[in-house]
Amino acid sequence: MKFRVRKMTTDDLEQVIAIDRASFSLPWPERSFRFELTDNPAARCWVAEGEDGAVIGMLVLWLIVDEAHIATIATKPEYRRQGVAQELLVSALIFARDEGAKTAFLEVRENNVAAQSMYRKYGFVETGRRPHYYKDNDEDAILMTLTSLQGAFFATKQSPPSWGNASG
Ligand SMILES: CC(C)(COP(=O)(O)OP(=O)(O)OC[C@H]1O[C@@H](n2cnc3c(N)ncnc32)[C@H](O)[C@@H]1OP(=O)(O)O)[C@@H](O)C(=O)NCCC(=O)NCCS
Repeated sequence: MKFRVRKMTTDDLEQVIAIDRASFSLPWPERSFRFELTDNPAARCWVAEGEDGAVIGMLVLWLIVDEAHIATIATKPEYRRQGVAQELLVSALIFARDEGAKTAFLEVRENNVAAQSMYRKYGFVETGRRPHYYKDNDEDAILMTLTSLQGAFFATKQSPPSWGNASG
């Protein structure tokens, strides 16, 4: 399957919100995505776009000084297990690294094995836990950290050429 990662625009919001609602038990309200996209100077918002132009994945990252924080990431259910989320993750982290990020952080539900596997694959390790963090089922949040965006895997990665065509 062919797809490309590009910056999110306001035209993508409807599809991004649909993916969010299909993916999370506590989805973000529309105004949160709109805020991240248009008003939050720390936010970097990305989508994966299929060949037909449809949005099939999304990621929001916060860049705060030299720290990148993955705020949310999801793939449209029927496009999962085809490398969409990892392409979004790696692309966004490379972009953050090139903007000066040195480390990356995220929170993930204790029982979200799929996401934890992906993060481990790219070097994130568990560095903490927030007990009862998720209010819908009292689930713990696992804190995961990628200690060096300059090191190992990411050191050899360049921003993809398609980056130049990214809009927004
Ligand atoms: C987690 C999620 C984003 C993964 O998206 P995806 O596009 O299917 O992921 P990819 O195909 O890029 O897979 C990348 C890696 O993630 C891991 N992974 C993905 N789905 C997995 C699953 N169901 N079981 C185990 N590992 C899985 C694997 O390590 C995989 O690498 P591999 O293909 O070499 O085995 C997707 O399942 C999703 O949207 N879930 C709901 C939202 C969510 O939980 N987001 C994370 C919040 S912290």
